[in-house]
Parts: sequence; C-alpha cells; structure tokens
Amino acid sequence: MTTMKDVAKLAGVSTSTVSHVINKTHFVSDPVIMRVQSAIEDLRYTPSALARGLKINKTKTLGMLITTSTNPFFAEVIKGVERRCYEQNYNLILCHTEGSLERMQHNVDMLMQKRVDGLLLMCAEVDGRHIDLLQHHKPVPSIVMDWGPADPSLDQIQDHSFLGGSMATKYLIDCGHTKIGCITGPLEKNTAHLRLQGFKQAMIEAHIAVNKEWIIEDEFEAEGGFQAFNKLFEKGPLPSALFIGNDMMAMGVINAAHKQGISIPEDLSIIGYDGIKMAKFFTPSLTTIHQPKFRLGAKAVDTLLEKINKQRAESIVIKLAPSLIIRDSVKNLNKSI
Ligand code: RIB
Repeated sequence: MTTMKDVAKLAGVSTSTVSHVINKTHFVSDPVIMRVQSAIEDLRYTPSALARGLKINKTKTLGMLITTSTNPFFAEVIKGVERRCYEQNYNLILCHTEGSLERMQHNVDMLMQKRVDGLLLMCAEVDGRHIDLLQHHKPVPSIVMDWGPADPSLDQIQDHSFLGGSMATKYLIDCGHTKIGCITGPLEKNTAHLRLQGFKQAMIEAHIAVNKEWIIEDEFEAEGGFQAFNKLFEKGPLPSALFIGNDMMAMGVINAAHKQGISIPEDLSIIGYDGIKMAKFFTPSLTTIHQPKFRLGAKAVDTLLEKINKQRAESIVIKLAPSLIIRDSVKNLNKSI
C-alpha cells in the first residue's frame, strides 16, 4: 500500500510538507503543491482517514442503530440522516437491531470499537424499557430518535404524537363523525401511547364518549392493522370512522375491510399517521397525519454534531410538529346531509 512516505520521496519533500498540502494546514508554495499532487496522482495515494482519525481523536463517523421493519417510515428518516451526514462530511455506519437486545448490544460494542464520534439511537425495541447500552463504554454523545422517554442524560428528538393524535381525531369530528374508534400500535411504545391519549383528549373536548370496544391494539405493521380490523369487525357494529396509529396499519385495515366487503370511505372513514410517501397511492388515497421524517433525520444529525462540537453538557428534547394531509379516505358527513 502506498504511504505518505512514498509520496514525499517521489515529490522530493518531507512527509510533513505532504501532510500540509493534503490538509491545507500550512503555507506551501505553488510549485511544491504541484509536485506533491502529481506524486499523489502517479502513486494513486489515498490518505488514511483511520490514521488521521486516531491522530485527532475524531473519526468523522456516526453510528446509527435502527429497528428492522418493513415500514418505509424508517427509510424516509434514514434518508434525512444520510443526506445531512454527507453534507457535513461525516460517514454513517448503519446497524439493524432485528428486534434482538443481544444484537443491539453487539452493534453498540462494534460501533464503540470503531470509535464513532456519536450515536443515533432509533431502536423501538427498547422503547418503554430502561436499558443502558453504553454501560460498558466511555459515554459518547448520543441522541434518541422517535421513542422515549429515555435516559434523561441523552438528547431526544421525536414527533409530537399527542398533538398528532388529537389533530387526527378533531379532523374526523369536524367531518361530522361521532362514532369513532382507534387502532393503536403497541401501547408500551411512547408514540402509540401518546397518539391514543391525543385521541381521547379530542373526544373529551368534543363531549363524545369513548367506546372501549372500538379501541384495538396491535403491531405497528400492515399485519397489525389487518388483524386489528378483523377483531373489530367480529365484535359487531363498526364505528363510522377510525384513527389508525400509523400508515402501514392503515394499509392492513384497507385490505381487511375490502375482504369483508366494507368500502372506504363510504362505509368506514380512516385516517392514518406518518404520511409515508406511498400512502398517497393507497386505494383510496390515505388522509393522514404527516410527521416530518426527513427533517427528523437531518435535525437529529445537526443536534448530535452540535453536542459533539460544542461539547454541550446538558441534554435537550426536541418535538417536531405534525400536520394534516387531507386526501380521499375520510367521508365528510356534513356534506352528505
Ligand atoms: O415503530 C413504527 C412507528 O413508530 C412509525 O410508524 C412511526 O409512527 C413511529 O413513531
């Protein structure tokens, strides 16, 4: 492998001059720069980021732990993380957790051995449980994304799920619905819990009784929505509208309802959560609460880099506001009177 020494020899300069040319850390005359650059090209020399990282105690690499899921929500968040890392000249090592705590700990250990400058933690598996992944390591700046409450010493960034749940329900009420049910994700997860609380709050404010029979909990995946709808269907008369904990569950509900001969939105209105890109192309096109996934990813990187660079000691919690996207899956009962 070509070394800096080889470049210096060919260019007839010292290794520190080569280093100054590469890192632009000192004045070097133009003719010398050209000699060094031509030696670099001739020898196809690539500076070792690893060696430099060890020297300055900064690898310009972030590690990210992420839940394995078929939910495109995660891919849309990662897009924001990856783009911002690229813009800030950082590398990203992405590790899937596959629902296993053992795998999660293994990944953290590996990332720490690689001397990452910071960690982005987006593994829903540990939501609601207190697990100290860094217990065997020197603390490294970390940010918890999407789930919580987590270790109060860590930064957190999440969508305002309570507000989103309330917004979704208020929209159904504004469209004239009073028989409203809720299909939630796993309630031990903070986002699922808060969305349900937002739903209940909006119902209370509108003086509409919450029917417990119409609240069904299942997994945050299409299969979860499919199963939840069938449980609801078997119970008896359906509500006229459903707030569903995320868009993937809504996709499962659309499929199950279709199989039971229930037409959306004629027989049943539905509103989802997340605003994943593909929800626009569901049949019917899904009305949903949009959470800014790309921004969540980019902002998480900005916050982490700010913590690393400014050595901020105190931790912060950032909540991103959701917004309503109106499409075709909710019937406006006020219009049909
Ligand atoms: O775990 C998946 C869900 O949690 C996503 O759909 C998103 O809503 C997140 O909060």
